[in-house]
Amino acid sequence: MTGKYVIRVATGDSLLAGSTNLVQLWLVGEHGEADLGKLLRPLREKKTEVEIDIPFHLGRLLLVKLRKHKSLLNFDWFCKWITVQGPGNQGEVLFPCYSWIQDDRILSRSVSDDPQNLFKKYREQELEDRRKAYRWGSWKDGLILPLTTCPQLTSSVQVCDSWKDDDLFGYQFLNGANPMLLRRSTSLPARPPGMEELRTQLNKELQAGFLFEADYTLLDGVKPNIIIFKQQYVAAPLVMLKLQPDGRLLPMVIQLQPPRHGCPPPLLFLPSEPPMAWLLAKTWVRSSDFQLHQLQSHLLRGHLMAEVISVATMRSLPSLHPIYKLLIPHFRYTMEINILARNNLVSEYGIFDLVVSTGSGGHVDILQRATACLTYRSFCPPDDLADRGLLDVKSSLYGQDALRLWEIISRYVHGMVGLFYKSDKAVKQDSELQAWCREITETGLQGAQDRGFPLSLESLDQLCHIVTMCIFTCTGQHASAHLGQLDWYSWIPNGPCTMRKPPPISNAVTEKDIVDSLPDLHQARMQKTFIKFLGRRQPVMVALGQHKEKYFSGPGPQAVLQQFQEELAVMDREIKVRNAGLDLPYEYLQPSMVENSVTI
Ligand SMILES: [Fe+2]
Repeated sequence: MTGKYVIRVATGDSLLAGSTNLVQLWLVGEHGEADLGKLLRPLREKKTEVEIDIPFHLGRLLLVKLRKHKSLLNFDWFCKWITVQGPGNQGEVLFPCYSWIQDDRILSRSVSDDPQNLFKKYREQELEDRRKAYRWGSWKDGLILPLTTCPQLTSSVQVCDSWKDDDLFGYQFLNGANPMLLRRSTSLPARPPGMEELRTQLNKELQAGFLFEADYTLLDGVKPNIIIFKQQYVAAPLVMLKLQPDGRLLPMVIQLQPPRHGCPPPLLFLPSEPPMAWLLAKTWVRSSDFQLHQLQSHLLRGHLMAEVISVATMRSLPSLHPIYKLLIPHFRYTMEINILARNNLVSEYGIFDLVVSTGSGGHVDILQRATACLTYRSFCPPDDLADRGLLDVKSSLYGQDALRLWEIISRYVHGMVGLFYKSDKAVKQDSELQAWCREITETGLQGAQDRGFPLSLESLDQLCHIVTMCIFTCTGQHASAHLGQLDWYSWIPNGPCTMRKPPPISNAVTEKDIVDSLPDLHQARMQKTFIKFLGRRQPVMVALGQHKEKYFSGPGPQAVLQQFQEELAVMDREIKVRNAGLDLPYEYLQPSMVENSVTI
């Protein structure tokens, strides 16, 4: 009998049980097999139901086969069970699963115990896969055997499967842990020189507006760390990338060091290199990104900037001042965590000195250099994204979300400020407010008026703009640099904290060269430990705009806060819907994930 089959799939309840990857399904009956194609996207806590017409007679159902297809990233799926309701008076058939579906392998579940041995090849395949996942190891001589440590069973997000792919390498500049470095090229770079054919390709992308760059020149000349008498290494790469019509960003060329006067030009690495050479070049970029991400984007632009704003506020605005009341919920625990960071992370003998290639002084040098690049515009996403040519890049989910969050915060600030200031004159005449502005620009930021920070506030708009910047910095700015740490750095080769060999000077690279360059076991363990500590979700967190303290009295401010919360809730829901359709969800600026202040 041909006809309609209804297939129901149940996903596990745990946090990571769902998958955004597509799943292909086959039904096998006693008269044949039907490939139903990639028709499932098994999201968490959802029962997925599909109906499908099969134009031939399968007969009694015996087996279902499942294959989760790999996309940009792999998310394993915990399938509880599958039921199939056949046409006519065939009853519903249950296929219990209760297993993780991983990788691109086919998993099959049969309706019975298979006494006739009909499914021998599926049983053998399953055991073969199982033996790869569960391997005997050894711990101490003379003991019974334990499980060996297998990356498949230990990695949190599946970066370990895909870290070598150019797709994922490019993706991270848009939506990874550090989305702050990428910019659209406005001219051909001075580096890389040479290679006429390559220059022609770069020029073609430039003319079309598709050429992008990530430049780590800030790291040039930084003194590398020496860890337990062993020299570590730092590079200052330049990556040129092209934006594809489908939104993917793909690397075109990597140069690991800037050209030096009187030296032969540094080698250029291309995707067409031998695979190990290209992989090592990309790994160097990832290690350089780790340094600039942690020091410039996360510590300086998130933590230390939030501290300047909070200290200046505490020193300049009394508790009764409306701007104090507006800002104070966004300073919770910021000074505390920053003191901890200065005492344990970037201090003498702190984590940076112990395991990071820029530790023991290089990191302070980088922070000083990065301080000179702190412009007012770079803290305001509408200006920053425009300056970096990212406003119309649809695959920049960071860009879209940052812009939207900024606008919501800006409306909230306008609403609040409008309750207390009725004219530009009122702003100009508020001497406490003017002192606050000077305290940030002149004192906290040590003379940042040359980089666009205001010395005085002349209008309501100017006031709203700086207050929006303050709230965005303490919330979205920090969240976008903080929340990706666990996802992107738990797999060490995707963000090595140090490199133990100098950058390659030829493309004769072996796997051993890569292993010898990556952090050693001790350094890798330390990286995993501190990333886990820093990157873990906070058990008690206050999300953006959800503070319970009532600093204002009267119904006006409460109504503005409520409107703010409603707009955030809408954004949150819409991001969830968008993310459900993506291979790789972008959650770092989802309002319910963004903390109300810098707390870790
Ligand atoms: Fe942080």
